[in-house]
Amino acid sequence: MTDSAHTAQAGTPAPTGQSAKPAQSGKSGKSAPTAFRASLLTFHGDPAHAPHGAVFHEDGLLIVEDGRVVAADAYAALAARLAPGTPVEDRRGKLIVPGFIDTHIHYPQTDMIASPAPGLLPWLDTYTFPTERRFADANHARDTASFFVDELLACGTTTALVYCTVHKASADALFAESDARNLRMVAGKVLMDRHCPEFLRDTAQSGYDDSAELIGRWHKRGRQMYALTPRFAPTSTEAQLEACGALAKLHPDVFIQSHVAENTDEVKWVADLFPGHRSYLDVYDHYGLLRRRAVYGHCIYLDDEDRKRMAQTGAVASHCPTSNLFLGSGLFDFDKADSAGMPIALATDVGGGTSFSMLQTMNEAHKVARLGGHHLTATRMFWLATAGAAEALDLGDQVGTLKTGAEADFVVLDPQATPLLARRTARPESLEELLFAFALLGDDRAVYETYAAGKRVHRRGDARGHVPGHAKIAA
Ligand code: GUN
Ligand code: ZN
Repeated sequence: MTDSAHTAQAGTPAPTGQSAKPAQSGKSGKSAPTAFRASLLTFHGDPAHAPHGAVFHEDGLLIVEDGRVVAADAYAALAARLAPGTPVEDRRGKLIVPGFIDTHIHYPQTDMIASPAPGLLPWLDTYTFPTERRFADANHARDTASFFVDELLACGTTTALVYCTVHKASADALFAESDARNLRMVAGKVLMDRHCPEFLRDTAQSGYDDSAELIGRWHKRGRQMYALTPRFAPTSTEAQLEACGALAKLHPDVFIQSHVAENTDEVKWVADLFPGHRSYLDVYDHYGLLRRRAVYGHCIYLDDEDRKRMAQTGAVASHCPTSNLFLGSGLFDFDKADSAGMPIALATDVGGGTSFSMLQTMNEAHKVARLGGHHLTATRMFWLATAGAAEALDLGDQVGTLKTGAEADFVVLDPQATPLLARRTARPESLEELLFAFALLGDDRAVYETYAAGKRVHRRGDARGHVPGHAKIAA
């Protein structure tokens, strides 16, 4: 199907077949309203608990102005409200959903995705640390950040919680790239002052100073937000965790991100390094690092007490199924986490994760839950990857939703993206069946367009930035 746009005429828009430019919101300037006619999906609550949590309009209209959602409803209910002359982008046959939120990803690991190792700790030593060393070079950091952001947008991810490297310039590069495209991103420089190569170490003091400087430069500048990022307990001394806790207290609205209980060898290591603590999670608790906007990758080897603590503090479990399967880390217990009431969100964890796509992440999340005897519906997974994540991150009024006033970050999904997807979605019996097909069969090919703050930032098939040169393959 080809796109067309028409303009609203006295409340009864009629297609003209003309093509039109997408909404141009500009970063700060005002823009005229634009409307999108397509199927729409948004959420008013967790579909597992709220009977009408998922709101779907087969023939819907989304109106966007100045980078924000003005209204999203059935076409029949909204069309008459369109001001005459408003361009209407015709995306009938496609599905608009809020932009995806990836709650845990490492941008410096883009070039080492799909590097196999017999488990997490050898993988870190063999691939991760040498790869992250290259980010001492600010040009390399800028080049990778640009590719990384292209890749996120191609997959429909408009917000991510991003790990940079220990180098301050790596965070500057990521924020500058995101700011230039007006994306809502959360990122932070890694804190790491032991148990890693000398070339990747900071100190408790320099890590504190660099993080404080980056908060001053980037936190709440445009749509950027900072995350204090102690890599994981084994690579931080008590002094560094203490300094991180102090900074967290000084800045109650910054994010905190780290890893916890991902791998059995790692869990044993933490028990040796921090003998006085009840559990791995308790180490972070001790230093004041469990709270709202604290996001912990993996959470596989938690016990009931830990889960209760996550629920009490509002800290978020970031479930990374493609990574957990690839590194053989283990299976996240979705049922126990859910029953404990702890906030849960989904993430890719690239480069431990094997795909940038949140659709592929849903695919594997469904299977991991299935192995634990839990049926994770596609409707719930779409919620977890959009409004559920936004609410868990305290960003529920800004992103992950098509509600009035929200930032207009959204994705146009194409059920005809591949011949198989087209066949499978030809006669869906329910919304769940349609979403399930997207989750199980979809990837970046299913993302037709991505919009951030009302402006198109990706269109499938359009030329992208740059292609890196090929290095010689060592024999
Ligand atoms: N634990 C500490 N660092 C990392 C990392 O880079 N990736 C993953 N998956 N786990 C970690
Ligand atoms: Zn990770």
